[in-house]
Amino acid sequence: MSDEKRTAKLEIEGKTYELPIFSPTAGPDVVDIRKLYGTAGVFTYDPGFTSTASCDSTITFIDGDKGELLHRGYPIDQLAEKSHFLEVCYLLLYGELPSPAELEDFESRVTGHTMLHEQMVYFFRGFRRDAHPMAIMVGVVGAMSAFYHDSTDIRDPWQREVASIRMIAKMPTIAAWAYKYSIGQPFEYPRNDLDYASNFLRMCFSVPAEDYEVNPILSRAMDRIFTLHADHEQNASTSTVRLASSSGANPFACIAAGIACLWGPAHGGANQACLEMLQEIGTPDRIPEFIARAKDKDDPFRLMGFGHRVYKNFDPRAKVMKQSADEVLELLGIDNNPTLQVAKELEKQALADPYFTEKKLFPNVDFYSGIILEAMGFPTSMFTPIFAVSRTIGWISQWKEMISDPQMKIGRPRQLYQGATLRDYVDIEKR
Ligand code: SDX
Repeated sequence: MSDEKRTAKLEIEGKTYELPIFSPTAGPDVVDIRKLYGTAGVFTYDPGFTSTASCDSTITFIDGDKGELLHRGYPIDQLAEKSHFLEVCYLLLYGELPSPAELEDFESRVTGHTMLHEQMVYFFRGFRRDAHPMAIMVGVVGAMSAFYHDSTDIRDPWQREVASIRMIAKMPTIAAWAYKYSIGQPFEYPRNDLDYASNFLRMCFSVPAEDYEVNPILSRAMDRIFTLHADHEQNASTSTVRLASSSGANPFACIAAGIACLWGPAHGGANQACLEMLQEIGTPDRIPEFIARAKDKDDPFRLMGFGHRVYKNFDPRAKVMKQSADEVLELLGIDNNPTLQVAKELEKQALADPYFTEKKLFPNVDFYSGIILEAMGFPTSMFTPIFAVSRTIGWISQWKEMISDPQMKIGRPRQLYQGATLRDYVDIEKR
């Protein structure tokens, strides 16, 4: 925050209050209201936090009007093309691109933590086979705080570092085992000779009965999907992790809270909902019917994978994902994928409709991702778990930034109370 003294003046019932204005390195100025209640006796009101900055951060910047997404200043399209997921993890966690030696050390530390405590297998077995993999991930990640006691003291920088590496390393194993459990196949253990994305694919798709070679096309596509979902400023699940962590709760419990929030169809669950919507549409001739429903105020239906709280232009991740969908399906020899054809025609018709353009509703990260994941062989129930595997680095990086801030306070919003005012209890005989 720049130290220039600028203020906003707020007049309430004849009294004027001066509120400091801070200028960021990028994005809108902020008005500091921390002393507002103490000086003016009023709260601000912003359900859904549409105009509220909940923290200051140096990790990710989004320009919703330009459709720009920067991780520590580097644009997402460059990272998706030139970097790879574990390097992006390093960048998000430590703030700079690693040297070759730093990257090698980081990758070997992550590789060394990919296995789960063997006792955790029993957590998976406690679920029904038809449990949604997100339900399993919430449970198993939360349970990690019962296993890794040597990395739960958030006041210890070394324990914070170990917990960070463990979360990044173990999420693919947990997600893959949740998938294996749901299809009744044995768990496949991670392999230290495979890169992050290849390891995940092998744990998901290999079986003991035969050798499994990771398809490099799928591995590159998987790594790119991980990169595109890594972090996204103060979205709902990241804000959940920050709020849970502000009480001093251990990192595993806080990440489990983030997974729970991500599961919702308005957030990370949209990729599953979007593919199911595209499959329900089925053929391009049914698109007008669904667009009409999305525009109908009396119909709760929304176009899944469309719209965004921040992007009022194309989500830059959707652009990369769309290119990747074309590439992957072509390389896999999947011509004329009906779901991709419906998606492209839907995007075309929606963006030609004033309802969507005037409300600045564009495809978001979830619009094309499911098409690639389905082509890779994943069921729709695995789409959000894959989002969670990737977003773990974002949650952990934002958690680490907050926890290491000496100014950190517990998050405790107030409210606009509209309930009953003081009244006396009425005995049941008199009611
Ligand atoms: C993610 O925050 C992040 O950064 C999230 C994320 C990340 O990386 O962490 O980017 C990941 O969650 C992407 C979003 C995935 N969700 C979906 O695709 C679900 C469909 N989209 C929406 O439900 C909606 O667009 C949201 C939830 C994404 C954003 O909702 P907002 O910002 O609260 O906007 P809103 O609901 O107030 O909508 C504004 C208007 C409304 O119409 P009016 O009441 O003004 O007449 O636009 C309409 C809405 O009805 N609208 C849609 C629509 N999205 C908004 N109409 C039809 N279809 C849609 N998809």
